[in-house]
Amino acid sequence: MKGVVLAGGLGTRLRPLTSITNKHLLPVYDQPMIFYPLQKLAEAGIKDVMLVTGGNSAGDFLRLLGDGSEFGLSTLNYAYQVKEGGIAEAIGLTRTFVGGDKFVVILGDNILEDSLAEKVAAFEDQIDGARILLKKVENPSDYGVAELDGTRVISIEEKPESPRSSYAVIGVYMYDNFVFKVIDSLEPSARGELEVTDINNAYLKKNKLHAEIIEGWWADSGCSIDGLLQAGIMARKLRGGDPI
Ligand code: DAU
Repeated sequence: MKGVVLAGGLGTRLRPLTSITNKHLLPVYDQPMIFYPLQKLAEAGIKDVMLVTGGNSAGDFLRLLGDGSEFGLSTLNYAYQVKEGGIAEAIGLTRTFVGGDKFVVILGDNILEDSLAEKVAAFEDQIDGARILLKKVENPSDYGVAELDGTRVISIEEKPESPRSSYAVIGVYMYDNFVFKVIDSLEPSARGELEVTDINNAYLKKNKLHAEIIEGWWADSGCSIDGLLQAGIMARKLRGGDPI
């Protein structure tokens, strides 16, 4: 199983912090944001990883992360996304790296309490298709939202005004090789991006999308300045820090 971390995009919601650097290089408590997803992959036993980034700070990732050995990785590969064409476009850049394998994608601003080890093992056992993780949240309109029938996903909507549930699709996606065919068939959304939600709905249509609800704490640390602060406070707590 291979791993992919996405660290492109403009980070506009975190301006002016992101005016001169990439959001994934900002601190979350005592580590750069990008450390968290890399640690999650390594903890789940994933040793070959590709990081996708873009913009003017791409070289800083190489200087910071090097060959990935500090995280216990065997290889850390890099891809450059020329424009912010969306999460699905960024995943498309990993096609040669992934080859015929299955892989796990983590959005570089997502920070999770739960280990991914069991979830990745379940995906290993899954013959084909995709696997997504859901988390109950108070502000579903800020995310991709799953409509559920019991634990079965019926549809996913990207940032809906009237969400059909409180379950956000978090930024951890597991795909087989079919994802690249799906990406080839996508059209840009109204905001001009190739959307990961369209990938997941394509798997859903083929009845090949498995979903699991996570219980532990989760943060999209790039969603707002307050979200970044909250993520830092939680990261400190997870590492056993006393309440501030
Ligand atoms: O955090 C979970 C949410 O992430 C999901 O619930 C949504 O369905 C999904 O669309 C995404 O929403 P965001 O609005 O938070 O996505 P954002 O534009 O912040 O991008 C998420 C990550 O993907 C970010 O760490 C940077 C990376 N990215 C994004 C874009 C648009 C890229 O690498 N390239 C890109 O072109």
